Amino acid sequence: MTPETHRRLDQEARRILAANDRGGYTVPNERVYPFQWNWDSAFVAMGFAMFDEDRAWRELETLFLGQWADGMVPSIVFHTPADHYYPGPTAWGTRHQPPTTGISQPPVAATSARFLWERAVDRSLVRDRLAALFPKLMAWHRWWHETRDPDGSGLVTVTHPWESGRDNSPDWDAPLAAVAPTVSVGALRKDNKAVDPSERPTDDFYDRVMTLVEEAKALGWDGIAVSRGLSMRVCDLGVQCILSRADRDLLALAEELGRSEDAATLARWIARSDAAAARLRAPDGTYRSLDLRTGELAPCPTSASFLPLYARFATPDDVEAMSSLARSWWDRLPYGVASCDPGFPGFDPLRYWRGPVWLVVNRMIADGFAAHGLDDIAARIADDSAAMLATNGFREYFDPRTAMGLGGHGFSWSAAMWLSWLSQPGSTRLTGA
Ligand code: GLC
Repeated sequence: MTPETHRRLDQEARRILAANDRGGYTVPNERVYPFQWNWDSAFVAMGFAMFDEDRAWRELETLFLGQWADGMVPSIVFHTPADHYYPGPTAWGTRHQPPTTGISQPPVAATSARFLWERAVDRSLVRDRLAALFPKLMAWHRWWHETRDPDGSGLVTVTHPWESGRDNSPDWDAPLAAVAPTVSVGALRKDNKAVDPSERPTDDFYDRVMTLVEEAKALGWDGIAVSRGLSMRVCDLGVQCILSRADRDLLALAEELGRSEDAATLARWIARSDAAAARLRAPDGTYRSLDLRTGELAPCPTSASFLPLYARFATPDDVEAMSSLARSWWDRLPYGVASCDPGFPGFDPLRYWRGPVWLVVNRMIADGFAAHGLDDIAARIADDSAAMLATNGFREYFDPRTAMGLGGHGFSWSAAMWLSWLSQPGSTRLTGA
C-alpha cells in the first residue's frame, strides 16, 4: 500500500467516526442503524483510542447506560428516537430507560476496556474510569454465566439469532425452522428498503425472529424464564468464544485493580467454559454452535469456528485443524475470511452472514492465529482486509470472491478496524491475553 493510500484511509476512517458520532456514542451507520449497537461500540472504542482516549472510554460508558438491573447489556440502546428502523422500542416492549432491545450481543466490551487500558498514555488518568466500569462488566459476565447458563454447564445460551451478532448464519437454520411463526412483519421492515434486499435476510427469517421477541415479551423479559423457555436456545460458538476471551481480559483487569474475589470468580467461569468446549467439537475436528434443545451441532464451519484461538482454549490439534481449514478456504476464495464454509450448499457470498467477510471477525481471527504463532495466516487476513478497504471503502461487509463492498457505506466498525489494527504495523494481538 502506498503512503498516499494509507493517508487517504486514515483521513476517511476518522471522518466516518466523526460523522457517526452522536456525542458519547457512535451509530454503526446512519441510514441502516441509527442507534448504539453493543459490540459495534466495543470495537469502535478501539478506533477512538488511537486518537482520542477520552472519547473511547465514553463510548463504553454510554453503552452501559443501557444495562439492565439483572446485568444484561442490550444489543441496541435507543438513545434518541428514529423512525427509519424496525424493530424499534415499541416492537421490543421492554421497560428500561433509555429504551433498549431485550437481548444482548457478543460481549466484546471487557476486551475493549483492556485494549484501552493497555494503550493508555497515562494509566493513572484512566484508572478511576476503569474502576467504575469494572463492576458493570462483571455484572454482565455474571448474567451470561448464571442467567444464561442456569444449570452451570459451562455453555451459555443465546435465545435469538441477533444476540449472536451473526444474524442469519446457517447456525440458525435448524433452530429457527423449529420456531413456528406467529407474526408477519415483512411490511414493517425498513432494512431491505435502505440496502439491496439480496444482501439482507428474508421476510420469513424476520417473521421467525420477531416470534421469539413475542415469546420473550409474554414472559415479561424475565432472564431465567427466557433462558429456559424460548423456542430457540443455542450455544452460539461466537458468543461462547468471545465471552471466554473477555473473561480472560476481565480477569487481567481484576488483577490490575486488586479485586481478588472477582478474579477468583472469573477464573472459575473460565475453567468451566474451557471444560465444556469439547462439546462444541464436531467429528471432523471443527468447532460449531450447539442447539441446546436438540443436541445437534450446526451444519458447517463458519468464521466463528476459528474463534477458539481468540478465546485461548484451543488445543494444539485444534490449532492444526484451524490452520488447514483457513488455508483450504483460500484455495476456493481469494479474500478471507468468509463467514460461512464455501463448501456448504447454502453458502451465499452476498448475503450477510452466509458468506461475506466481516472485518471485526477478521480482527479476532487474526489475533487468534498470531497468538498461536501462525503469523503468516494472521498477516494474510490483515492484507486481505486492508485490500478490501482500500479498493472498496469502509463498507459493512465484503464479497469474498471479488472484495466488492456490500451492505451499508461509511461503517463505523470498519473504520475502527483500520485505525486500531490495519494501519498499525505489529498490532495483531488485541490485548496481552
Ligand atoms: C447487523 C449485524 C450485527 C451488527 C449490526 C450493526 O445487524 O449483523 O452484528 O451489530 O448490524 O452494525
